[in-house]
Amino acid sequence: MQFTLGISSDLLTNEGKPCFGKKPLEKLYEKKDIHVEWMEPNIQILSEKETSKYDAILLNSPKLIKDSINPKNNRLKIVARFGVGYDSVDLDVLKKNKIILTNTPNAVKRPVAVASLTMILALSGKLLIKDNLLRKGRWNERTNYMGTGLLNKTLGVIGFGGIGREFVMISKDLFKKVICYDPFVSIEEMKKLQVDKVDFDKIAKMSDFLVILCDLNEKTRDMIDSTFLNKMKRNSYLINLSRGPVVKENDLIVSLKQNKIAGAGLDVMTNEPIEESNELISLKNTILTPHSLCWTDECFKSIATEAISSILDYFNNKSILNRVV
Ligand SMILES: NC(=O)c1ccc[n+]([C@@H]2O[C@H](COP(=O)([O-])OP(=O)(O)OC[C@H]3O[C@@H](n4cnc5c(N)ncnc54)[C@H](O)[C@@H]3O)[C@@H](O)[C@H]2O)c1
Repeated sequence: MQFTLGISSDLLTNEGKPCFGKKPLEKLYEKKDIHVEWMEPNIQILSEKETSKYDAILLNSPKLIKDSINPKNNRLKIVARFGVGYDSVDLDVLKKNKIILTNTPNAVKRPVAVASLTMILALSGKLLIKDNLLRKGRWNERTNYMGTGLLNKTLGVIGFGGIGREFVMISKDLFKKVICYDPFVSIEEMKKLQVDKVDFDKIAKMSDFLVILCDLNEKTRDMIDSTFLNKMKRNSYLINLSRGPVVKENDLIVSLKQNKIAGAGLDVMTNEPIEESNELISLKNTILTPHSLCWTDECFKSIATEAISSILDYFNNKSILNRVV
């Protein structure tokens, strides 16, 4: 039976073209014994229909849950997840059925680092507020909207992993000081990038701009709650590019409404897509982006290339790039 690869159709543009360009697919098309097809559109959750049909899946948004696999009828051997996070995939069911999972940690480092910096610059420069002043004919009110300079400010980072380090590398010269909270990274490791390791209490109290870049796990879920937010400086900003549930959204809304912090930049939310009724949307001191601030041509081309390399490694019986399980 020919090796069949399904690609999730949410990676197609409205014109039906791959959103990551054609180049990453060329290596697959060179292999005559791999059949590539786009999966049906609008799949929210993978079902037995897909997992009994494909040997490999290049997966973006659709979820893979316990019921996605029927062990008696399973054909799936490898799932290559677009991006770093894999909370949309049930690891237990993959392990039980000996299905390999890969992700693309290298491709997203620079794009997410740049997106984090974009949030900081947009918040500190009051970019959206000033854009709005001009469009609303309120040019002369501009003296009321001073931005925040960064030269004397402390940048705080929660999570010193691949993205956290890349972010520090491209941002540190803009700030007076960089501090980081990550219990799994040593003082020495942080010192290499002139970063001071601090505890959870200090990162809240000392940061002027606090960027969350840790992974979502048992310990980090709901980690940023009212206790933490109440310790933050009144003129500080919280930026979350990691995963929504790291922040207790309702606690953050209270903090923002009561001006306990100056503002927030959020690329990730508790529920995605965000509910229309979510109070965050009506708050003026937030910048909200639909989990896509890092999406660029470069980013998607690199992600697709990395994910396809993992599938080709499997196909060619090589050691598999970025294997997670
Ligand atoms: N917004 C986006 O589009 C986007 C894109 C890619 C990745 N991400 C998210 O960015 C995050 C970071 O990705 P990465 O590739 O750097 O991951 P990574 O695994 O390289 O780094 C995660 C870091 O978090 C640290 N960490 C774990 N538990 C912690 C805790 N309790 N407190 C503080 N730090 C803790 C780890 O020690 C590690 O250094 C992930 O949540 C990922 O899902 C978001």
